[in-house]
Amino acid sequence: MIYPIISLIFFHAFRTAAVPALGYSHDHHHESPQSLPSKTWYQDPEHPVHALFRRDALGDGTTYAAVGSPSWSAPYPSSTPNPSALPVEWLNTLNAAVAAGKIPNIPQSSNLPNQNPVYPTGYDPNSPTVCSATEQCVTPGDIWDAPDGVFASSFDDGPTPSTPTLVNFLQSNNKTTTHFMIGVNILNNPTQFLTAFNAGHDIAVHTWTHPYMTTLSNMDLLGQFGWTMQIIHNSTGGRVPKFWRPPYGDSDMRVRAIAKEIFGLTTVIWNHDTEDWAQTAAGPIQAAMSGFLSSPKHPGLVILEHELTDITVNGFIQSYPLIQQNGWNFISLAQSVGNGSSYHNAQSSSSEVTPMGILLANQTTSTSTSSTQSSTSTAASSSSSSGQNLSGAKAQTSSARTLRDNFSPLYTTHSALVLAGVISLCV
Ligand SMILES: *[C@@H]1O[C@H](CO)[C@@H](O)[C@H](O)[C@H]1NC(C)=O
Ligand SMILES: *[C@@H]1O[C@H](CO)[C@@H](O)[C@H](O)[C@H]1NC(C)=O
Ligand SMILES: *[C@@H]1O[C@H](CO)[C@@H](O)[C@H](O)[C@H]1NC(C)=O
Ligand SMILES: *[C@@H]1O[C@H](CO)[C@@H](O)[C@H](O)[C@H]1NC(C)=O
Ligand SMILES: *[C@@H]1O[C@H](CO)[C@@H](O)[C@H](O)[C@H]1NC(C)=O
Ligand SMILES: [Zn+2]
Repeated sequence: MIYPIISLIFFHAFRTAAVPALGYSHDHHHESPQSLPSKTWYQDPEHPVHALFRRDALGDGTTYAAVGSPSWSAPYPSSTPNPSALPVEWLNTLNAAVAAGKIPNIPQSSNLPNQNPVYPTGYDPNSPTVCSATEQCVTPGDIWDAPDGVFASSFDDGPTPSTPTLVNFLQSNNKTTTHFMIGVNILNNPTQFLTAFNAGHDIAVHTWTHPYMTTLSNMDLLGQFGWTMQIIHNSTGGRVPKFWRPPYGDSDMRVRAIAKEIFGLTTVIWNHDTEDWAQTAAGPIQAAMSGFLSSPKHPGLVILEHELTDITVNGFIQSYPLIQQNGWNFISLAQSVGNGSSYHNAQSSSSEVTPMGILLANQTTSTSTSSTQSSTSTAASSSSSSGQNLSGAKAQTSSARTLRDNFSPLYTTHSALVLAGVISLCV
């Protein structure tokens, strides 16, 4: 169990030189979350993400492999996704978006180890054309701030062996947080994944293997987003995540567009950084937090924190009383900036998943041609096929609950195997 911790520390040690502290000094325009257009929070039923990650359209037929079981893990890449082994639907959706002019044709960046990505001559990272988040260029629609007075809580890089400590602490305080999870870490730590999900915490996307995303081709981006969406979808009873955070904060107009147009994901950065991953004790983390927590209430706080180790988690736990004492309203980030819903098709990890995957959508659009629909043959399907009626959602409620109850005890032998994969990946 120590291997993943060590490897992840190595992994993050790379960040020292490469990541500018995205401190509070950045001079970003104030597009506060409250003022964003409503389309940011509401997916049109026609958005491709609903076709790519749909539950059975009638809400009762889909079952998923038990999280942690061999059949659950088998379909996923154990390290960097192979761009020539992607589901054809993802490729078709990308090609359609490119053809429709929705994906900016800007070049990939490149970087040396431990350095920020750079673009070819002629592509200014601060220009509207590129708008690199690494350079702290802010595009309307991305999240950097929380609503006034809100501590929008999130943790990156899980699940890890330290995840249960974090979850249990928050649970004892009747709180949840948003976990920006790494796909291979879900694959390697299914027990800890379930600890977070079953406690009602929000699950969001932090890519499959934590690369600098702007350095990747469109096809490689598809794999990084797609597999992470897929494993979350298939491990949460069919939920479709709404948010992603780029590793190292590295995103640009092309990466954002693929996240948004293909996967429906809104990009979330941060406005304060504890640099918790670089600390060797909880004290300095608490000191950094203390400074942020005594700042004015406008804008609200989006603090970069990690559930990497017991040190980073304890840094948060020791800071927690200060959040209350300074009068901040602690809310899971996805709940806060998602207008009360963490997923495209469910309000939270414990609420029902709606048919078609769209929260309160117009049900007349559920005229699916997918084969999953025709394979459905239970009474629930006839009740919701009348359309216009959310009774299908009711049927889905029990379905989702059953799925979650069905999560079986995990295969502990599994982890020993895949941990080796993490080591080779990270070092
Ligand atoms: C956001 O929440 C408010 C309050 O519940 C609601 O009135 C509004 O319609 C919601 N907006 C969207 C886009 O869901
Ligand atoms: C996700 O779950 C669906 C429904 O069970 C299944 O058809 C599909 O193969 C799963 N995908 C992966 C990658 O396991
Ligand atoms: C826990 O939090 C929820 C949501 O904020 C609230 O409705 C509920 O009353 C709280 N329960 C307790 C025991 O404090
Ligand atoms: C649902 O969509 C149909 C077709 O687009 C439209 O005619 C109808 O008014 C919509 N219903 C609601 C409740 O929005
Ligand atoms: C919608 O569902 C409710 C509850 O099942 C039912 O009473 C109502 O008649 C349904 N309405 C339509 C238009 O099907
Ligand atoms: Zn990360």
